[in-house]
Amino acid sequence: MIQETIVTTVNQQGIVHIAPMGIHVENNEFIILPFKPSTTLNNLLETETAVINYCTDVRVFAGCLTGRRNWAVKPAEKINGQVLVNTLAHTEVELIRVEEDDLRPKLFCKTVHSVNHAPFTGFNRAQYAVLEAAILISRLKMLPLEKIEAEINYLRIGLEKTAGEQELEAWGWLMAVIDDYKAEVKNK
Ligand SMILES: Cc1cc2nc3c(=O)[nH]c(=O)nc-3n(C[C@H](O)[C@H](O)[C@H](O)COP(=O)(O)O)c2cc1C
Repeated sequence: MIQETIVTTVNQQGIVHIAPMGIHVENNEFIILPFKPSTTLNNLLETETAVINYCTDVRVFAGCLTGRRNWAVKPAEKINGQVLVNTLAHTEVELIRVEEDDLRPKLFCKTVHSVNHAPFTGFNRAQYAVLEAAILISRLKMLPLEKIEAEINYLRIGLEKTAGEQELEAWGWLMAVIDDYKAEVKNK
């Protein structure tokens, strides 16, 4: 199973890095798979710790993909790391082994400590739409424009029916990036 999470890591100087990551959950282990080059990868190799944040405020996902990475954090409880303040729960993990790969190494991690901060409030289609649109943006230059437009038009249906303010704000950030990209492609 893959869980869409926000991974926070720190480097040896203590500088925090926040990135959305699809975490593979297998036999009580977490596998983080960053595409190279990646600050998350560098930090995990440097400090061998990370925090997996379970966050339903999709502005954090959309924000990280649109240059808004400055989200509030606080120190982790049991490891050298930082926890996203705006998260329902988090798990502090330690790196146990690395499976090297030229494109996408596998970082196997074990749980050190987990904390619940707030209850899960149910699924929301607009949150799903924002996550999918954010993933499209992370692959913008690899996909044909027609496919991006078709997928966005489909995702917009669920978004318009169910979004709250956070989802609308996140969607707006993502659509601005797509509009800029379309203008760039058309001017070529
Ligand atoms: C929902 C979601 C899941 C993502 N999962 C991954 C992932 O598993 N691996 C990855 O390298 N990037 C993933 N991305 C894209 C990264 O968040 C983004 O490219 C980021 O900048 C990673 O590079 P970094 O470690 O240098 O920050 C995902 C993005 C979204 C929106």
